Amino acid sequence: MTLKEFLIERQRQVDAALDRLTPPEIEHPATIHRAMRHSLFAGGKRIRPILCMSAATAVTGVQEDSDAVIHAACSLEMIHTYSLIHDDLPALDNDDFRRGKPTCHKVYGEAMAILAGDALFTLAIQTLTTIQFAEPGRVVSLIRELSFASGTVDGMIGGQVTDIEGERQHPTAELLDSIHRAKTGALLRASVRMGGIAAGGDAQQIEALSNYGEHVGLAFQIVDDILDVEESSEALGKTAGKDAAQGKITFPAVYGLERSREMASEQCRLAHESLSSFGEGAQRLHEIADLIVQRKS
Ligand code: IPE
Ligand code: IPE
Ligand code: MG
Ligand code: MG
Ligand code: MG
Repeated sequence: MTLKEFLIERQRQVDAALDRLTPPEIEHPATIHRAMRHSLFAGGKRIRPILCMSAATAVTGVQEDSDAVIHAACSLEMIHTYSLIHDDLPALDNDDFRRGKPTCHKVYGEAMAILAGDALFTLAIQTLTTIQFAEPGRVVSLIRELSFASGTVDGMIGGQVTDIEGERQHPTAELLDSIHRAKTGALLRASVRMGGIAAGGDAQQIEALSNYGEHVGLAFQIVDDILDVEESSEALGKTAGKDAAQGKITFPAVYGLERSREMASEQCRLAHESLSSFGEGAQRLHEIADLIVQRKS
C-alpha cells in the first residue's frame, strides 16, 4: 500500500470512529453538538491519530486498529480540534477560516465556540475511560499523557500563553524553542507515546517513540511557520501570512526561511535516527517524518 493510500484509509477509520464517539447533531442540546462536529469534520489531516496508530504498529509489528489504539487516536484529535477552535477565537489569533471552512465562532458565535472547545476536551477524557484493558492502569497512563501534554507546564496551553504574550516582543531563539515545544510539540510527542502505551510497548520503546515525537513535533511547527509565509490561504485552508501581521515569534522571524528549512530537515533526520531500534514496523513513522517536512498544507 502506498503512503497516500495508507493515509486515506487511516483518515477514513479515524473519521468513522470520531463519528461514533461524538454525540449526534440531534442530541440535546443540539447547538453544541453541531458546533463540535462542524470543526471535527471540517477536514483535518488527522496527523496526530495517524501517528498514534503508526506508533502502535512500530511496537507490535502488525497493523494496529484495536479499539484501544483507535480511542487513544481519537482523543488526540479531539484535543487538537479544541485547541484549534480556541486558537482561532478573536481573543487569540482571530481567524475566520480553518480547514477550508469558516471557523467555529464565525458560524456558532463565540460562546458556543468556547463551549465546543471545552466539550471536546471532556469528550477526549471520556473516550479514554471507555477503553477496556486487561490492566486498568493503562487507561490512567493514557489520561496522564494526554492531560499533561495539553496542560500549562510545557504543554499546549502553556505554549499558547507564551505565544500570545510573545506577540510583538523581540523574537529570541530561546523563547521560540519553548513556545514551539509546548504549543505543538507536546501533543505530537504524546501522540506516539500514547500509541506505544495503548499497544503495550515497554519503557525502552516508549522512550524511543518519545524522542521521535519530540523531533517530528518541532519539525511540524517549523514547517507550519514556513507555510504561513510561503503558501496561499486557499492551499492551507486557513489565513496565510498572519504570523508576520500579528508579530508572532516564529522560526522564519528568528532564523529566516532558508535556515528554518535546514532546521526542519535536521529535526527530520534526528526523528529517523530515533527509530533505529525498531524494525519494519516503523516504516510508516519514517514516511510520516518525511511527509511532515515536505508537506504543502
Ligand atoms: C495546525 O495543525 C495547528 C498547529 C498545531 C500547527 P494541523 O496542521 O495538524 O491542522 P489540521 O488538523 O490538519 O487542520
Ligand atoms: C496553533 O499554532 C497551536 C495550537 C492550536 C495549540 P498556530 O496559531 O501557529 O496554528 P495555526 O497556524 O493557526 O494553525
Ligand atoms: Mg496561535
Ligand atoms: Mg493560529
Ligand atoms: Mg501557524
